[in-house]
Amino acid sequence: MLASIPLLVTFSLGALAQPAWGPWGNGHGAPDCLNDAKVKTILDGYTYLLESPQGADFNTTAESLLSDSFFVSSDSINTLAGYPLGVNAYPSKQAFIAGQAQTPPIPVLQTLGSFYSCDQIAWRWNGSQIGSNQYEIKGIITMDVNATTTQINAVYSEFNSGAWLSDIGNPECQKK
Ligand SMILES: *[C@@H]1O[C@H](CO)[C@@H](O)[C@H](O)[C@H]1NC(C)=O
Ligand SMILES: *[C@@H]1O[C@H](CO)[C@@H](O)[C@H](O)[C@H]1NC(C)=O
Ligand SMILES: *[C@@H]1O[C@H](CO)[C@@H](O)[C@H](O)[C@H]1NC(C)=O
Repeated sequence: MLASIPLLVTFSLGALAQPAWGPWGNGHGAPDCLNDAKVKTILDGYTYLLESPQGADFNTTAESLLSDSFFVSSDSINTLAGYPLGVNAYPSKQAFIAGQAQTPPIPVLQTLGSFYSCDQIAWRWNGSQIGSNQYEIKGIITMDVNATTTQINAVYSEFNSGAWLSDIGNPECQKK
């Protein structure tokens, strides 16, 4: 990520290290930056997309929440879906809408924590009631966001796909 380059340079000079994601905390006052309300809109919206792939408002929510440059990077999804590792699991908004429609829902998705910068969100979640519901599925998502339009540009998502596979009946993934 581009944002990490200044960090590396700064470290190598040994002076004035800055967080790679820009300033955290409450100082996101700029009008074009995220704020608590925008972050809630985005996380509530994305939670709905994951909980309700067959929901009546799925397509309209996806159309309004995801930008035209949207993609999902996730080797966890690639593992579940049998896609090659390293490629974007969903390269576009259209691919996400078409793919989610065939994806089983995460019936209950709980936010465990989140924080944000001007235009990125870090989110920790807990999914349950998937398949046999033997294991909870915890995941971490970071998002690149267009804070002006309150739309998501990119989702980087990793979660316990081994627990997920076990919950949906793959015995080789159960814990020993
Ligand atoms: C949502 O979009 C998908 C893919 O374009 C389509 O197959 C599906 O019928 C749409 N669902 C609704 C409720 O319009
Ligand atoms: C995740 O959700 C399940 C089901 O509600 C719950 O039993 C478990 O304690 C939760 N895990 C965390 C870390 O909150
Ligand atoms: C945000 O969206 C606006 C309107 O579509 C666009 O002009 C701008 O380039 C976008 N910015 C980012 C960072 O995606």
